[in-house]
Amino acid sequence: MIMQIGIDKMAFATTPYYLDLVDLAQARGEDPNKYLIGIGQNKQAVVPPTQDIVTLAAEAASRLLDDHDRKDISTVIVATESGIDNSKAAAIYVKQLLGLDDFVRTIEVKEACYSGTAAIQFARGLVALDPQQKVLVIAADIARYGLHTGGEVTQGAGAVAMLISADPQMLAIESGSVALSQDVMDFWRPIYATEAMVDGKYSTNVYIDFFQRTFDRYCQRQNKQLSDFAALAFHLPFTKMGKKALEAELGDQEDAISQRLRDNLVAEQAIPREVGNLYTGSLYLGLMSLLVNGDVQPGERIGLFSYGSGAEGEFYSGILQPNYQDGLKAASLALDHRQQVTVSEYEALFNQQLGMKAEDVNFDLSQDPSRFVLSGQRDHQRQYLTRS
Ligand code: COA
Repeated sequence: MIMQIGIDKMAFATTPYYLDLVDLAQARGEDPNKYLIGIGQNKQAVVPPTQDIVTLAAEAASRLLDDHDRKDISTVIVATESGIDNSKAAAIYVKQLLGLDDFVRTIEVKEACYSGTAAIQFARGLVALDPQQKVLVIAADIARYGLHTGGEVTQGAGAVAMLISADPQMLAIESGSVALSQDVMDFWRPIYATEAMVDGKYSTNVYIDFFQRTFDRYCQRQNKQLSDFAALAFHLPFTKMGKKALEAELGDQEDAISQRLRDNLVAEQAIPREVGNLYTGSLYLGLMSLLVNGDVQPGERIGLFSYGSGAEGEFYSGILQPNYQDGLKAASLALDHRQQVTVSEYEALFNQQLGMKAEDVNFDLSQDPSRFVLSGQRDHQRQYLTRS
């Protein structure tokens, strides 16, 4: 029997604050329906200076690991495009905060919003070489475009942690994925910038083109068609993006198969709509939302389209496993404990981020109830704290 490898467990974490996008629309002189319907976002996570990709990644992973997993993890891969150091891997800090054994491999990978998928594919290779080992993949990002920019409404933050193992509880990844890369300047962030540069409309078109090319090639090579998929999960920089891509493929088809794919896209959009863009984690938060809210059954095939500007796309598929609910840390999807902030509070928090600042700083931790916090910076070193 062929060994199955894939996603065994998933958990999500975001920041303790959010901004209602109706408030943002009013402050920016836009019709709220542009944001709610045209972009497809209701709320966005707001990042206090005491949170960064390391604290978010540690929180997501801590919601997922039990004592057995901790023993079996051989490698921790943090996928991010909002890294906190140009040399040292965020995975080392995360491993430390999680209290994992020192005998573990720790690395960071980057390619815009795509690298979480690359990390999963690398993890499959490691597990195939030694099925006893598990790989912890954490896609963690802060999507930051800047105040008063076109991309502001599509900001967000959070992390999705995934355990990749043999005989996975959730999703057995199939062979035959199709990856595509081209040198495209649709979104990038030069090394001196804390905010992304983006040609949003161009990016949208490249995304759709990459989806159709990878999906068509996958279908040709694997002899598959739309009816072979219970759902197609998309990278969601904003939820309307998934709709644009799905509609480009479905056209005016109104049959039951197309309707099911449309309904399952709405299920995939439900949680991302409340959080915003997670960059590397967006596809995987969408997958979690689909598994919680969608019409999908064990044994069915889910297609996944991963996209990172610059640009890289990959279409791949997995078969949903009988006990997938056991691996889905659905409790981590609860967003009820977040606190709403006003637009001026959001702007103040936005400007307090450590970013490229070199000086020593001690942050006020009293406003952040999170377990893992960034307490400040000393001698150019970020200081992290774990609270019980
Ligand atoms: N009610 C409903 N819909 C409305 C509306 C209203 N009152 N006003 C505008 N809209 C719709 C528009 O018709 C448009 O829909 P469409 O895209 O289906 O045509 C949508 O809202 C956005 O309006 P638009 O004028 O195009 O917005 P924009 O110029 O502010 O740009 C983005 C939107 C998404 C391009 C911009 O926010 C951006 O650059 N975001 C970052 C891009 C990104 O994440 N790229 C990475 C992709 S992987």
